[in-house]
Amino acid sequence: MENKNLQQRDGFSSKLGIIAAAAGSAIGLGNIWKFPYITGRYGGAAFILVYLFCIALIGLPVMLQEFTIGRRSQANAISSFKKLKPNTPWFLTGWLGFITAFVILSYYGVVAGWTLSYVFSAITNSFAGQDPEALKGMFGGLVTNPLKPIIFQVVFMALTAGVILGGVKNGIEKYSKILMPLLLAIVIILDIRAITLPGSGEGIAFLFQPDFSKLTASAVMSALGHAFFSLSLGMGTMITYGSYIGKKENLGVTALQVTIADTAIALLAGLAIFPAVFAFGIEPGAGTGLVFITLPNVFNQMPGGYIFAILFFLLLSVAALTSSISILEVVVAYFVEDKGWNRKKATIIATVAITALGAFESLTNGTINLVLPLLKGGVVNQFGFFDWMIEMSDLLLPIGGFFISIFVGWIMTKADLDDEITNGGELTHSWTGIFEFLTKFVAPLLILFTLLNLIFGWF
Ligand code: PFF
Repeated sequence: MENKNLQQRDGFSSKLGIIAAAAGSAIGLGNIWKFPYITGRYGGAAFILVYLFCIALIGLPVMLQEFTIGRRSQANAISSFKKLKPNTPWFLTGWLGFITAFVILSYYGVVAGWTLSYVFSAITNSFAGQDPEALKGMFGGLVTNPLKPIIFQVVFMALTAGVILGGVKNGIEKYSKILMPLLLAIVIILDIRAITLPGSGEGIAFLFQPDFSKLTASAVMSALGHAFFSLSLGMGTMITYGSYIGKKENLGVTALQVTIADTAIALLAGLAIFPAVFAFGIEPGAGTGLVFITLPNVFNQMPGGYIFAILFFLLLSVAALTSSISILEVVVAYFVEDKGWNRKKATIIATVAITALGAFESLTNGTINLVLPLLKGGVVNQFGFFDWMIEMSDLLLPIGGFFISIFVGWIMTKADLDDEITNGGELTHSWTGIFEFLTKFVAPLLILFTLLNLIFGWF
């Protein structure tokens, strides 16, 4: 079973398929749920600038590094390190990715469950006639409910497992190609409505006028962590996807396209949300509920809002699904290729375990009181378990990215690296020197600095 899986590697059938699947992994709740709420928490424009800086100097090179490892090794996150550097501890990088994937998917499934639940709220027209306070109460009522969010989480996780059992081509490619452009179209329509709301100016200023005094060590760490999260980097997802990319494709261009698409959607989501946040007097630092509280107000203020609300939450659920499958794939691949389980058993066991952890996290939003400490900026902070898991993933992904950069920059041979990014010498790039410099020095040093700054609170 194991060998069969390794030998018959499924591939993507077209150029669009690869980009659609990689962009499908990148574009998800990270862009539309997480980016706005952490931007709100850390004060807006200055945070966004640091985020963009992280994307360009660290995220983009790491994406190309992961593609390179994957396509070179023709294997998933764990086996790839074993193949490229046998009998060394480098495979532990893949193992770190396994733990990170487990952590992320546990809460990702819960938030995706909220999204699914909002599809039904939209269908039953539950937002209509509600003021901002009532809509806030509606979100609070959902997440603190012991049962309802878990039911939707279970449904979402079952869908994720179903796609994973379908295999690469049939599963991933089919879904992401058509639906992501549609989501983009809706976000742009929401932008137009939000920026024309009375009182939206303050929100636009919040997005575009940086106030650097608000930048703390935690903010910088979050910007870095989110750059990894949003681009699906640091845990081997793009290694696995890289292994499916055909030998003729230009890896650098693909990485650039995915990065631009992902970043554009996040910024457009911010532009839909912050003008509305200020127009409706919502607290920008409201936390994980920001999108769920803000956008129903916008739907209430636009013609066709009923339909747009349904479509938006439906498409956001699909965007979440094309991301969650890429996370589950990392965990399943580990069980299949490392433990020799068959795919079905691996998928079912992984899904049940991750869902159980997520359900517990959901309970800590209301029913169970669990607060954990975390060192941030040289100070020990207290986090509810749900937020604590989100903070953990923002730490784990850059640590994974650090090792991936070191591996590609210093461990893999230069001949292998050059061969892979130039497709065996066929392509000539003017940027390989810059890429190497970013890979060897800039990315690992900036990650290290940000982590140490978080621990010691220098800035
Ligand atoms: N990039 C996804 C999002 O923004 O929603 C989340 C994600 C997927 C993170 C895959 C990490 C990953 F490996």
